[in-house]
Amino acid sequence: MPLTSTILAPSILSADFTQLRSSIEIAEKAGADWLHCDVMDGAFVPNITFGPLIVQAIASCTKMIIDTHLMIVNPDRFIEEFVKAGSHQITVHQEACPHLHRTIQFIKSLGVKAGVSINPGTPLSTLEAILPDLDLVLLMSVNPGFGGQKFIPSSIGKTRQLDEMRKQLNPELVIAIDGGITEENAQEVVSAGADALIAGTAFFKAADPVKTAARIKAASR
Ligand code: DX5
Ligand code: ZN
Repeated sequence: MPLTSTILAPSILSADFTQLRSSIEIAEKAGADWLHCDVMDGAFVPNITFGPLIVQAIASCTKMIIDTHLMIVNPDRFIEEFVKAGSHQITVHQEACPHLHRTIQFIKSLGVKAGVSINPGTPLSTLEAILPDLDLVLLMSVNPGFGGQKFIPSSIGKTRQLDEMRKQLNPELVIAIDGGITEENAQEVVSAGADALIAGTAFFKAADPVKTAARIKAASR
């Protein structure tokens, strides 16, 4: 396990879009490490969010790591634009990439970190061949498309299984988990092997996001 403390990545999807700058400031004040940007195309997932223009606006007003989660078909078309927009790491979906190895090498050639995400219904075995090439895996603990869904309990076992896989194949791999993360389940997912917790609703809709962030970040192995 390469990391010393739990990484918190608020998902901007749950922020107030009329107050993006102050939402970003809240995340910074709360000690968030990454800012998670959910890009949806209405084809890979049944929802549409935003593109490089918004990511660029977000990146221009923060020093947090911009963690871009592409839930789009044929992501290769747009990867370069999202890097130019200020993304520090780009995650694509295994289910959306027929030439995953090529896509990952392309992301890395642009000088940013490369991640692969898998849906709750996709087995970890689909990542075995690519795992040594990855900086991070983003395990979906809800079906992607919307914030505010309930955590799927089988994601815990999947996190444990990935933690085992990385020992053999890529000890430096960062395990991130995305969907339905709360103060209540943070400790369990970190104990299972997660290094980075994505939290949309639990963070931005909290009565006191700073306190919520501290509780989530306090989860430790
Ligand atoms: C779901 C997105 C998630 C989502 C997380 O498709 O990838 O990042 O915004 O939101 P919560 O924490 O509300 O489940
Ligand atoms: Zn996401």
